[in-house]
Amino acid sequence: MCLRLVQRRTLEGEATDSHFPTGSIIMKSGKEYIIFPLDVSTYDEAMKYVTLLKDSVGLFKVGLELFASQGPAILIGIREITNARVFLDLKLHDIPETMRRAFLAASQYSPEFISVHCDQGDGFLAEAAKSNPGNTKIMAITLLTSINSKNLARLGFMDEYVKDLSRLVLLRAQIAKEAGCHGIVCSGQEVALVKKEMSDMLVLTPGIRPAWSVISKDDQKRIVTPASAVKNGADYIVVGRPIRDAKDPGDAAKKVAEEIESVL
Ligand code: C5P
Repeated sequence: MCLRLVQRRTLEGEATDSHFPTGSIIMKSGKEYIIFPLDVSTYDEAMKYVTLLKDSVGLFKVGLELFASQGPAILIGIREITNARVFLDLKLHDIPETMRRAFLAASQYSPEFISVHCDQGDGFLAEAAKSNPGNTKIMAITLLTSINSKNLARLGFMDEYVKDLSRLVLLRAQIAKEAGCHGIVCSGQEVALVKKEMSDMLVLTPGIRPAWSVISKDDQKRIVTPASAVKNGADYIVVGRPIRDAKDPGDAAKKVAEEIESVL
């Protein structure tokens, strides 16, 4: 098995991957890069995927659909059958005080990551960072991978960002870093740029499509393969439908892990 050496930095104030011990050189295997989104609404269906994939992926993502239908019980249920980490993908977005309180409420379940949107600026992100009582990492979503230039133009964004989405992603990543977030979420097309400018920020990349996956009616627009995302510096990749809709999800997850390991 191929493993990537991951050295945690110890500079004060730097956001690092605390899952791996400070100051040590540790090994990260292919499967530890994979976050599987539990994009289902029932408890039983979610548990079916957790049971099936608990040895093949590094984290499970609980998003809006599952959390809205099952609430915190789902987090407790996952803990009962695996010590795999959880990404609570709430994509929080509200006024600063509501953000602070929502983040506080959600972090009591100690997920590894909670996501927040960046587009209200640093005051808003700082409120989330300020209210962080534990080790949960705040991941700021720079720009959803389902958004392209045409969408930005329609939303009234300045030309310089419409022509080059990566400028907007980088700007938002800088704002997130200054506000005290631990990492950002961006597409695989911007990960190299973000890592070049901010090597200490964790980068989580959705919109992953292995060359062998065929997803009908796909809504993801800025997609890359697992190998390309990790080669460019992604610390974690979200891989949903290519695994979920495969004939054998366990086998598909293994294939993704092998592809990652081929570039470590
Ligand atoms: O691989 P697939 O497209 O099925 O993954 C879908 C998942 O990726 C959803 O849970 C969605 O919320 C998540 N996602 C994300 N951030 C984005 C785009 C998608 O977390 N920018």
